[in-house]
Amino acid sequence: MTHLPSTSRNGMAEATEAVEIRPGLHWIGALDPGLRTFDIILRTANGTTYNSYLVRGSDGVAVIDTVKAEFADDFFARLESVARYDEIKVIVLNHLEPDHTGALPELMRRAPQARLHISTRAPAMLKALLKPSEEHPLEYQAVDTGDEVSLGDRTLRFLHTPFLHWPDTQCTYLVEEATLFSGDVFGCHHCDSRMFNEQCGDFRFAFDYYYAHIMRPFKTHVMDALKLIEPLPLQIIAPTHGPILRDRPRRYLTRYRELSTSTFAERIGNEEPTLVVFYMSSYGNTARMAESIRTGAEEAGARVSLYDLEGGEIQPFVDLVESADALAFGSPTINGDAVKPIWDLLSSLAVIELKGKLGAAFGSYGWTGEAVRMIEDRMRGLKMRVPVAGLRIKLIPTDEELAECRDFGRALASAIVSGEKGRVIDFADLG
Ligand code: FEO
Repeated sequence: MTHLPSTSRNGMAEATEAVEIRPGLHWIGALDPGLRTFDIILRTANGTTYNSYLVRGSDGVAVIDTVKAEFADDFFARLESVARYDEIKVIVLNHLEPDHTGALPELMRRAPQARLHISTRAPAMLKALLKPSEEHPLEYQAVDTGDEVSLGDRTLRFLHTPFLHWPDTQCTYLVEEATLFSGDVFGCHHCDSRMFNEQCGDFRFAFDYYYAHIMRPFKTHVMDALKLIEPLPLQIIAPTHGPILRDRPRRYLTRYRELSTSTFAERIGNEEPTLVVFYMSSYGNTARMAESIRTGAEEAGARVSLYDLEGGEIQPFVDLVESADALAFGSPTINGDAVKPIWDLLSSLAVIELKGKLGAAFGSYGWTGEAVRMIEDRMRGLKMRVPVAGLRIKLIPTDEELAECRDFGRALASAIVSGEKGRVIDFADLG
């Protein structure tokens, strides 16, 4: 058997049938329309897909990515509808997360002659995944940007695109069909059995939402990847989740560029060092501290924004945080803890790059005052620097204590203005 017919009907994904994208190029993935939460944190109103692709050349077949383990039966049925296992010469893994490698061990058993192709950052991850032994050593080919593998009349070329969104990520380009197998990049959690973007209704929300939660923390890596991808002739983008992008695929590159560069701060200009102060206050004491901190920081040359979390939504604050140089969080201590809105905001910051930003904590307290130290620990956990020791004031601040708050603000602003964000001493290092 060399070339089994496409078995899709009406271009839609049937339970056990591959979908033809081009002659000899098939989608052999799986649909998961009932999923409502992905990876514990992502909402999926339309479920998702685990996209896997099969490329047939004159000298062998390549399988690009697999599916989540629970969907292996669908994947193998679709694969078998267009190829035999002994034809598979190459298995490419663009990214080793389990939703794309769940069926890999069984595929390797069924196609033992196939050579694994993974990125140069993936071997350690692959070993952890497959647990090789002396009896069953691991064989693979680590590939980098520009490396190619031939399928006879078709060529797969690799692009190293790390951190999108795991360190091991790569993209694979089918030269003769101008098709980019992009992994999670340009993907989205949107399940529609019609499979192709021009047939799948409006999934822009899912596309942007996926970017915001998966790619946003890696904006600089997105820009590096775009430098590799944008010069390529491009007729199809075939991601690992969501619709296959064959209608005007460059729009999705443009959108990624927009999402990776266009922040509100950049649009309006942001030349001054910026400090955003968030606070909650039970009796107005932490609020008075926040106001004095603002005064001091402004005296030292920072542009300061002050927000009472009691009156705001989390998402716009996340955008503010992303464009700020420094953050200060003020919380009273209630039952030995900082208050919930502070934690809500701090726990929402994992979607942005915080490394190198400065952080500070302050608050009024009645008995024990643990909140300040807890907030500082969390900021350090987010890889922020905490250059000024946290400021705690028992109950109502005196005039002298408000002067301390101004000094605190001044010191924090000076740390930004000095331009030494990456080198300031963290007070924790001195303890
Ligand atoms: Fe879809 Fe990062 O796995």
